[in-house]
Amino acid sequence: MRTYLTTVLQRPETRVLTMISGLWMSRLISFSVRNNIFEDLYNCPCSANELAVRRGFKSDIIQRLLLGLVHLGLVKKEREKFVLAEDGFLLLQKAPTGFAAMTQLWSELFDGAWQVIDQTAKTGIPGFEIVHGEPIFAFIGRDSALAKTFDTAMSGLTNIIATEVANHIALSELTLLCDVGGGNGALMRTILASNPQMKGLVFDLPHVIERAIVVTEPGVITFIGGDFFESVSSAPAHILSNVIHDWSDQEAIRILHNVWRAQPREGVIYLVEMMLDHDEEPILARSTDLNMLMLTGGCERSYTDFDRLLSRAGFKILSVEKIVDFTCLITARRIDVAH
Ligand SMILES: C[S@@+](CC[C@H](N)C(=O)[O-])C[C@H]1O[C@@H](n2cnc3c(N)ncnc32)[C@H](O)[C@@H]1O
Repeated sequence: MRTYLTTVLQRPETRVLTMISGLWMSRLISFSVRNNIFEDLYNCPCSANELAVRRGFKSDIIQRLLLGLVHLGLVKKEREKFVLAEDGFLLLQKAPTGFAAMTQLWSELFDGAWQVIDQTAKTGIPGFEIVHGEPIFAFIGRDSALAKTFDTAMSGLTNIIATEVANHIALSELTLLCDVGGGNGALMRTILASNPQMKGLVFDLPHVIERAIVVTEPGVITFIGGDFFESVSSAPAHILSNVIHDWSDQEAIRILHNVWRAQPREGVIYLVEMMLDHDEEPILARSTDLNMLMLTGGCERSYTDFDRLLSRAGFKILSVEKIVDFTCLITARRIDVAH
């Protein structure tokens, strides 16, 4: 069956109209997540009418919305019943990928920032800051429900790459690793599980650490609250996953240099990031680059960009591994340079 993303569109008119209509598809997914439609279909395949009665919607409208989800390949229609398709499982609230939380962010909260794209284009100020009057991490920190959703979405993304990253780090025989901007510790938990000789530090903003300590079993990881623009915890190796892309070059160099200051001479740094020129089809890296522009003022980067940032901060790239379609692991070692 051909669906939204797998159809090859020949006519330019159809291609462009499909691009323009992308927003509607995102809205349809967020409606379905918000109303637990994927959960309903997972628990029991049902007709549009049964779903409409259960959720209090109009039956003919729900039928059309469900057919939209069939078009996206998230739901299948089997006779009169609608059934969750394999891709739809990724949008269940309990799915480890956290895409339900991600939908809430991308399709709802972040959408507000995108609405002022003209102002961002003129001023360079991220849309989020224009709309909310403060940077995104400060805004998230003041709303505990939103902060929880953000952590779930972020750790969901991390879960996709964590095992591969952990296996790679296992080769290094490290005894201590610090995850800078490590959120609720999801990546560190996976790394420690395949590296029994290792101890882990997770460094993040104090409000993130407070929540992380509540959800994590005590004693396994040491959680440290702080501001990575000031300093980070000392360790022989640090990992930063989806952190550098949140920041401008100047800010990124400051964070990386604080890592440099916290390491011994032979220190190692791992960056988990999308890379613009390390993917035959960098679909997500390109769109995430625009999202960073609208949310944080950060950007996605190429190999040359990372090489430049890391060497300015005192590191030399040793290797770049592609972890999944949209993420690379960069390993660099500390070098002694004058800054
Ligand atoms: C995009 S999230 C990535 C989270 C996690 N590393 C992952 O890959 O799922 C960026 C993280 O940086 C943290 N962060 C933002 N500003 C920070 C600061 N000034 N000091 C320390 N952590 C900060 C955020 O709280 C958040 O957990």
